[in-house]
Amino acid sequence: MKTFETRSIKGTLGLGRKFAGRLDVGDCVALVGELGSGKTVLTRGLAEGLGLRDSRMVASPTFVLVREYVGRLPIFHVDLYRTVRSAAELAALGIEEMLTQGLVVIEWADRAGEALPHPHWQIVIEITGQTSRRFRITSID
Ligand SMILES: Nc1ncnc2c1ncn2[C@@H]1O[C@H](COP(=O)(O)OP(=O)(O)O)[C@@H](O)[C@H]1O
Ligand SMILES: [Mg+2]
Repeated sequence: MKTFETRSIKGTLGLGRKFAGRLDVGDCVALVGELGSGKTVLTRGLAEGLGLRDSRMVASPTFVLVREYVGRLPIFHVDLYRTVRSAAELAALGIEEMLTQGLVVIEWADRAGEALPHPHWQIVIEITGQTSRRFRITSID
């Protein structure tokens, strides 16, 4: 497990850009953290690192199931905040199929339970102050 602290949005974007260097087609990033912890900001950094030209496109896909961005490779951005209620619904999203084509980033991944793909990178985000965040990154088999 690795721990990182950021003290600004820019810091979190930078962490995302850096971590993106480790990612490739077939990887799944599972983001866990309360509302406003920085899951979407980190995803924006990941997308920047993966060559998405306009990362302003990256927003919480709360009212749609999945958003797709194409940078160096396709990024499927899933948000389980209110759209998915069961493992069956999650399976219906076709995450396994997405993983054959690109990278999958899941916000509120703790709500996926058993349906989360394996292996995946788990990133737990904690709010440690008004503008500071702690990220614990674990590779989960
Ligand atoms: N160090 C930081 N990293 C990321 N976001 C931060 C940081 N400090 C403050 N923030 C604020 O926290 C919020 C994070 O929002 P967002 O990424 O949408 O959260 P989530 O997707 O987890 O609900 C934003 O309003 C952002 O301005
Ligand atoms: Mg979000």
